[in-house]
Amino acid sequence: KILIIDCGSQYTQLIARRVRELGVYSEILFWDSPIEKLRESNPTGIIISGGPRSVLDGDAPAVPMEILNAGVPVLGICYGMQLLAHQFGGAVERGSSAEYGRAAVEVDEGRLFTRCGGDKKLTVWMSHWDEVKRLPDGFKVTARSESGAMAGFESPDGRVTALQFHPEVAHTPKGQEILSAFLFDICGCTADWTLGNEWIDHEIEKIRAKVGGGKVICGLSGGVDSTVSAVITQRAVGSQLHCIFVDHGMLRKDEGRQVMETYRSLNLNVHFVDASERFLTALAGVTEPERKRKIIGELFIRVFEEEARRLGGSDWLLQGTIYPDVVESGHGGGGVIKSHHNVGGLPDDMKMGLLEPLRDLFKDEVRRVGKVLGIAPHFLGRHPFPGPGLAVRCLGELKKERLDILREADAIFIEETRKAGLYDSIWQAFCALLPVRSVGVVGDVRTYGETIALRAVSSLDAMTAEWVHLPYELLDTVSRRICNEVPQVNRVVLDVTSKPPATIEWE
Ligand code: XMP
Repeated sequence: KILIIDCGSQYTQLIARRVRELGVYSEILFWDSPIEKLRESNPTGIIISGGPRSVLDGDAPAVPMEILNAGVPVLGICYGMQLLAHQFGGAVERGSSAEYGRAAVEVDEGRLFTRCGGDKKLTVWMSHWDEVKRLPDGFKVTARSESGAMAGFESPDGRVTALQFHPEVAHTPKGQEILSAFLFDICGCTADWTLGNEWIDHEIEKIRAKVGGGKVICGLSGGVDSTVSAVITQRAVGSQLHCIFVDHGMLRKDEGRQVMETYRSLNLNVHFVDASERFLTALAGVTEPERKRKIIGELFIRVFEEEARRLGGSDWLLQGTIYPDVVESGHGGGGVIKSHHNVGGLPDDMKMGLLEPLRDLFKDEVRRVGKVLGIAPHFLGRHPFPGPGLAVRCLGELKKERLDILREADAIFIEETRKAGLYDSIWQAFCALLPVRSVGVVGDVRTYGETIALRAVSSLDAMTAEWVHLPYELLDTVSRRICNEVPQVNRVVLDVTSKPPATIEWE
C-alpha cells in the first residue's frame, strides 16, 4: 500500500488514481492527520503531494520527522519536494519568477528515471514558485530545468526522492514510468490491486460477516454507485436485502421504467415508490435553486424512511459512498457552492449500521467492478445524474408540463449524441429548460415559446469541466429535431461556458 500525504494539492486524488492504475492500492491522509493515523497506515511507500503554500510560511503543511525517518521510501512532488528539502535541512527560497506549464528537464542517473528508456531530456508539467536552493547534506540533484533550477533530488541511500514537476498529470508523458520506478524498483510493491473476482469475493465475505442474519435496506438512484453496491450486497446476503427506488418526478424520459428493468435483470429485490405528485406539490411556486434542492432532499429522506418502516425496519443501511466522498468530507472548511445530496442522510431514530462496500474505490474502479459483476456496459457508462434530477435543469417553477418538455428535448439530444458516437467520450450531456420565452414564427404564425439550452462538458472528476466542441452537423440536427418534435420549444441555444466560472448543472 502507498500512503499519499495531502498537502492541499488539486492533484492529490489524481496521484492516488495513477498509483492504483499501476496495480498498487493507495490511500490519502491529510498532512495534519493525527500521527497515530499516519503510523497505522503502515505503508510500503509514501508520496507527499504538492500544495498551494510555501514552506517558508510558519504554519505551512509539514510531515512529522518520525514518519519521514521510518525507513519507508518517500517521494515528494512539487511542494512535497520543497518540504523534504526544508525538513531534512536544505534551503528553499522564493524563486525570481513562477514556473508554470509545460517545461523540459535534464535528468541524470536518478533512481526515478531508470524506466524512461534512457531519455535524458523529459517533457514535464511544472507549477511552482518557490525553489530548492541548497540540498540537505549528502543529497544529490537528479534533474534540472532549462533555467538551471533544481527539478529533482535523492538522498544518499536513495530512499528519499523528490520531483519539482508533476509525474501524475497527462502533460508529463513519462509520468507513469517515473511512478512505476518509485513503486516497483524503490518500494518493491507488487501490482496486485486488480479489482477482479478476488476483490469481490473478499468484499462479499466482509459483508456476510458484518450483516449476519440482519436485514439490509438500500436506496437505489439509478446511478452506477448504488447499483454496484446493491449487486455486491445481494450476492452476499440475498433476500435479506431490500432496495427502494423513489420516483421523485424529476427523472428523464422513460428512466424509471428502464432502470427498474435493469434492476430486475440483476435479481435485485426493488420496491418502486411513485412519489412524483408529492414532490411536485411540495415544490409548487418555488423557483429559488437552493430551496428546491432542500425541499427535494428532505422529502426524499422522508419518503425513503416511510417506505423503510413499511418494510418493517432494517438493521443496516447500504450506501454507495465512494472514495472521493470520503476524502472530500475529511476536508472541512470551504463554502457550500451547492448543497449536493445523495440518497439517505441517516435517520437517527432508525439506529441502523452503515454498509459502504465501495468506500475505497474511485469511480472508474466502481465501473470495473460493475463490469466483472455482469452489469451491462450501456448502464455502467451512463452519464452522472444529480440527485435532484431535472429539478436543477428546469429553471423557474417546476410543473409537470415543463418537465415533460425538458424530458422530450433531452431524450432527443442524448439519442443524437449516441448516434454520432460521442456519448461515451463526453462526461455529461443534457438539456436545460430556461425560464425565458421568446418570439418565433412558424408557417406565418407568430409563436411565443420556450428556450432549450444544450450543455455538454468533458471532465475528469466534475471539479472542473470544459465545454465540448460538438460538431455543427450534430447541433443542427438536434436543434431541428427539438423544434419540430417538441412544439412548445421555438429556440435552442448552446452553453459554451466551462467550470469555473459556471457549474456543470444550471442550478
Ligand atoms: P456542478 O453543477 O456542481 O456539478 O458543477 C458537479 C457534478 O455533480 C453532479 N451534481 C449532483 N450529484 N446530487 C448528486 O448526486 C446533487 O445534488 C448534485 N448536484 C450536482 C452534477 O451532475 C455534476 O456531475
